[in-house]
This record gives sequence, C-alpha cells and structure tokens, in this order.
Amino acid sequence: MALQTALTEMLGITHPIISAPMATVSGGALASAVTVAGGLGLIGGGYGDRDWIERELRAAGNTRVGVGFITWRLAERPELLDLALDHSPAAIFLSFGDPASFAARAKSAGVPVICQVQTLAHARSAVAAGADIIVAQGTEAGGHGGARTTMTLVPAVVDAVAPVPVVAAGGISDGRGLAAALTLGAAGVLIGTRFFATSEALGHDNTKARLVSAGGDDTVRSSVFDIVRELPWPAAYKVRTVHNALAERWLGAEDELRQEIETGQASGTETPVDRFQAAMQAGDTEEGVVVGGQGLDLVHAIEPAGDLVTRIVADAEQTLAAATSLSRPG
Ligand SMILES: Cc1cc2nc3c(=O)[nH]c(=O)nc-3n(C[C@H](O)[C@H](O)[C@H](O)COP(=O)(O)O)c2cc1C
Repeated sequence: MALQTALTEMLGITHPIISAPMATVSGGALASAVTVAGGLGLIGGGYGDRDWIERELRAAGNTRVGVGFITWRLAERPELLDLALDHSPAAIFLSFGDPASFAARAKSAGVPVICQVQTLAHARSAVAAGADIIVAQGTEAGGHGGARTTMTLVPAVVDAVAPVPVVAAGGISDGRGLAAALTLGAAGVLIGTRFFATSEALGHDNTKARLVSAGGDDTVRSSVFDIVRELPWPAAYKVRTVHNALAERWLGAEDELRQEIETGQASGTETPVDRFQAAMQAGDTEEGVVVGGQGLDLVHAIEPAGDLVTRIVADAEQTLAAATSLSRPG
C-alpha cells in the first residue's frame, strides 16, 4: 500500500512527506534519511553560507535532496541559489519573501520550485511566479510564520491554486495529521518540529530533550529571539518557540531589549546577544532558544527520521481506512 498523490507523482517519491528546510537543523543527514525512507528531505540553507551548504550537501551523499532558502535573506546572497542549483537538487524551496526572480532561475535550470505561503494572497502570487508546489503553512508551525491556522488555510489555498498541488504544514506530527491534511485536499505534508526531534537533526541534545518534554501550550510566537540573534526579519513573521526564561523576560519589552543591546554594544560591555550566544553554546534551553511548534504535544521521543516516515504513513493509511468505515448506507 502507498499513498499516491499529485505530490508523489510530481517529485517521483514514494510517500507524500517532505521534511522542512529548518535552518541550522536540517542538514544532509536528516534530509537524506527522509529521502531514503521514501519522502523528500530538504536541507535548510536559510542561514547557511557557502561552506555550510556545501558541507551539508556532501553529507547527503548521492541521495536526492532539495535545498530550502529564506527568500528575503537569499536576496542578499543570490549566489547561494546558483551553488544549490549546481548540485542538481530535487527541488528548491522558497519561503518568506518574493520568490519571483529565484523561482524563474530554478525553473530555467529544470528544478521544481516549492513555495511556502502563509496567506491566500501569497499563494496566488507564488503560483504567478511559477511555483510548481505550494506549501500552505499554518500558525501552529514551529519557526517563523503567520497568523492563519492550518485547518482553514489549507483547503482555501487548495481551492485558490488548483490544479497546483498543495502541501499542508503546521502542527502535523503523526499519521492522523497526514490523514487530515489529505482529507482537506492537500497532496502531502511538510513536517518540521517532529523531524527536529530525531537522531539525525543538527542541534544540542538539551534542545532535543526540551522538544520532548515541552507541549504545544508551551509555545509562543515572538520577535524576541530574532532580536537577540540580530536577524532583521520582516515584521510580518514572528518565530514560534518554546517559552523560556529569556522569552519571559523580554516578551512585550522588545524595544527595551533592542535598547539594552545597543547600549551594551556602544559601551563595549556584555549584551543580551553575547549572553544568548554563550547559552546556545552551553545548551542552556532557558537562556537560548528552542524552536518548535504546537505539534510538540505529539513528540514523545527522539527517533530516527526514517522510522518516523514509515510510521506516519502506516498510521495515516489506518486512520483513513477507519474514517471511511464511518460512512454506512443508511
Ligand atoms: C527548528 C525550525 C526551524 C525552521 N527553519 C525554517 C527555515 O529556515 N526556513 C523555512 O522556510 N521554514 C523554517 N521552519 C518552518 C518550516 O518550514 C515549517 O513550516 C514548519 O516546521 C511546519 O510546522 P511544524 O513545525 O509544526 O511541523 C522551521 C521550523 C522549525 C521547527
């Protein structure tokens, strides 16, 4: 048995599951494990430079993987797209910004373009820019995102961009989520948070342990972590993370945080940026950052990524069969 959809057909994969291109987390080991298990793995090139992207593409070996970019950052370093295209990726994934020029370049190289969107307007403009596949990302998602929920956004995007295949993202962690996404009209799922809690993901063991202990209620979207990481994210996108001591201190006081950083940097004294970087090195999950989404309720252990792919598909098939059996003549 296999779940065949427009996504599996278009990408030549066995299972309709894509692992998210999580910057600094989705390296070659995770991406290749997902592809080997029958899905499509994406390398998270969003914060990567040339060396990082080349290293992780090498780590993927000969396995077919795609490369994801944060579009507004790619605009500052467009040569990284050429670097990825030189490796004949299975797909280029673009999120958070205007994909038009990059989509055209990838398509002229014969590489499928996947665009992640947070609104219907973004979905329509991504299709106009040439997207072959649209990922509709709900606010449940870990990492950066918008305000719409997966439940309402996915079917609306499916209707808006048909016949372009739509992939659901945000809060999907198990076979029930995949089954629900397919039922909403999606052709597959893109999963981030659940794949962060795998043995292949890059990241400190303490961070992964916190993903297992935290739940969806513990997560919050904010700008706090972009301020301490000195990442100039557009205001429309806030990052969903596990709430911790650092967030508790600065949520609602973002201007004061910026001010404290500026004052410290001007006087050459330690700043919240320095303290954050030291915490990340030390694996301190209260003063560093743990990026994750509302799907954390369903994350109970660190597991190999390939096992997850296999289990999610098998459970989705069972869930769909059980749902079908609810319908009786009568
Ligand atoms: C740790 C982490 C890092 C992420 N980094 C990126 C990124 O660099 N680029 C991107 O397009 N999306 C990124 N995302 C968002 C994913 O693309 C995806 O939308 C999200 O993970 C789906 O929701 P889920 O986390 O509930 O599975 C990230 C998500 C997580 C959890």
